[in-house]
Amino acid sequence: MSEISKIEEKFNQALSGAKSLEELDAVRRDFVGGKGLLDTHLKNLKNLPIEERQKMGSSMNALKGVIMKALHARKSELEDEALAKTLASQAGDPTLPPFPFRVGRIHPLTQVMNEITQIFLGMGFGIAEGPEVETDENNFGSLNFLEDHPARDMHDTFFLEPSPGSVHESPLLLRTHTSPVQIREMRSAKPPLRIIAPGKVFRHEAIDATHSSVFHQVEGLVVDKNISFADLKGTLEIFVHRFFGSSVKTRLNPSYFPFVEPGAQMDILWGDRWLEVLGAGMVHPNVFKSVGYDAQEVSGFAFGMGVERLAMIRYGVKDMRLFYQNHVDFLHQF
Ligand code: PHE
Repeated sequence: MSEISKIEEKFNQALSGAKSLEELDAVRRDFVGGKGLLDTHLKNLKNLPIEERQKMGSSMNALKGVIMKALHARKSELEDEALAKTLASQAGDPTLPPFPFRVGRIHPLTQVMNEITQIFLGMGFGIAEGPEVETDENNFGSLNFLEDHPARDMHDTFFLEPSPGSVHESPLLLRTHTSPVQIREMRSAKPPLRIIAPGKVFRHEAIDATHSSVFHQVEGLVVDKNISFADLKGTLEIFVHRFFGSSVKTRLNPSYFPFVEPGAQMDILWGDRWLEVLGAGMVHPNVFKSVGYDAQEVSGFAFGMGVERLAMIRYGVKDMRLFYQNHVDFLHQF
């Protein structure tokens, strides 16, 4: 019997000495493992007389139960401690600023582009898109820019290296305006047409506060029977009033674009200054001819506006480059 209590005492000592799960496992192996203390003692029982053997046997089994239970309890204690330690080491840095962190927002140019689009969607326009790499024909030729006409020089164009075996006769280019989408739309659909085409355009020019080699336009095109200049004027006035405010004064001035006749620009009175906000005009008969429309049957108007320019006017941004520099403090104001 004293043998049993000795083992128990030894076990209790070992148990209180086990400070980690590894050490606890070592204790388990020493006492109740395959070649552990209890096992060895049980094997020795066979040398005892039968009666004593039975008594010892059941006492040893009882002890084994006690030991297992103690090991189990200590194990979950140690596991809890380990978990608490991990959690403590992963707890946040209390010196960090609290929520809310700055949340990302939609870029001002995207906001303005979406807003322009929404206004025209509200007037029954659909959205059309075209590629940024265009043919000379779509960007110029079909839009009545004559070969060698100085109007081509108004658009400083990025031409692409012709690739070997290209099917295009003239070099491809980065579109200098969204007007080629007019051509694509008219070639692929029949009147009536009422679309806007938002997108990126490219000009080979020096970058400064009011110029960028990549910028954005929204194009508009309406073609139907009996479309008049009054329709153009009314549509653009509604747009300007929705975008800049209903009290803003507008005026139309004559202007020149090869693909419209007559051509005009719309100005708004902003503060005490007249500012040009878009170009427009009645679709030129040559343009209708190039897309296979009958200029006796249908008429139409087109307009185009610069998204950066509209955003700069409305928000009083003096330097276009701010839109592309991605300074969070600038972007966060919109
Ligand atoms: N495409 C012209 C430009 O980029 C704008 C425009 C579009 C003018 C449609 C008239 C009609 O300057």
